[in-house]
Amino acid sequence: MNSMAFNMYNSATEEQVENRRRTQQVLKRFGRRRASLIPILQAVQGDLGYLPREAMLEVAGFLSIPDIDVYGVVTFYNQFRLNPPGKHSIRVCLGTACHMKGGYITLDAWKRRLCIEPGETTPDREFDLDTVACVGCCTMAPVTVVDEKPQGSVEPTKVDGILLAFEFEREKEAKGSE
Ligand code: FES
Repeated sequence: MNSMAFNMYNSATEEQVENRRRTQQVLKRFGRRRASLIPILQAVQGDLGYLPREAMLEVAGFLSIPDIDVYGVVTFYNQFRLNPPGKHSIRVCLGTACHMKGGYITLDAWKRRLCIEPGETTPDREFDLDTVACVGCCTMAPVTVVDEKPQGSVEPTKVDGILLAFEFEREKEAKGSE
């Protein structure tokens, strides 16, 4: 092990070590062919929920390709996530109907309330935010898909209501576990 790798290993968090271990497990199912890069990344993301740096390094090492090539593929395809998924997913529809009915204003409201940008996860990993194209409920525009369920007429005030409902749920859970 070279000194750089040694330092990285020493300073790795438990989560990073675990991510490496799980990535190595996934890699056992694949051959060391560059053509396997995308299926490998899909499988690693399927297991970890996202593609952290340490997983990308494992994949690069396994295929003997430069780290930057793996990173390039991950950032090129929007099926890949660089951030861990939140407990709750928020997807703001920006299809034509939703756009016409203020989808971007709704997106701004989510961004402000959660203090994150699309593609990011809140530091407490409670929510992740992203945008989607039409989800087929245009008559309910503007739509936000919350935990896979499309919700209609999500204006900024409704954003507050949805977040409040999650807060109540969290408090109820916390009381239940006391
Ligand atoms: S455009 Fe948003 S649901 Fe169709």
